Amino acid sequence: MNQTRRGFMGKAFGAVAGIGAVGALYAMKRSWDPLPSVKAAGFTTIDLSSCSENKLVVEKWRGKPIFVLRKSAEMVSAQSDAQNARDIMVEGAHYMIAIGLCTHLGCIPAYREDKSDFKCACHGGEFDSSGINTVLPPEKPLLIPPFNVKGATVVLGEAGEVYNKMKESGLIA
Ligand code: FES
Repeated sequence: MNQTRRGFMGKAFGAVAGIGAVGALYAMKRSWDPLPSVKAAGFTTIDLSSCSENKLVVEKWRGKPIFVLRKSAEMVSAQSDAQNARDIMVEGAHYMIAIGLCTHLGCIPAYREDKSDFKCACHGGEFDSSGINTVLPPEKPLLIPPFNVKGATVVLGEAGEVYNKMKESGLIA
């Protein structure tokens, strides 16, 4: 009798613990999922009017760092055609906008104002001021996120005309 009772108690306890575990997993999953509003929106608007020349601004979009660099006239005059092709023009100024993750293994490169380039401390990769890889191991330029220019602002997550043209020309994979 005692044995039966113990067996029953054990099963009952196991069932309650099981339900609790499922509940906890569900709660955990809910906390991992982004909020519906964030998922539905997924946009970040950046006002570029306060950007200073040769000063890197780091924004966040969908959990990723986004590099925004306003170039000086001096920087622009020294650029190659490949660099110019990646520039985003906003109210007459040249900007680099790129996902700030090294295309080698995903570290965040640092901007060197004195050289106007990026250095990745992880394995020594380098990128120029347009995000083009110049020193291995990264074999690809920094990625350009979908963007749309609206006046002095750029909306990340929205593929606008300029972004689509870059994509058509093969600049964006
Ligand atoms: Fe940047 Fe390796 S992660 S060089």
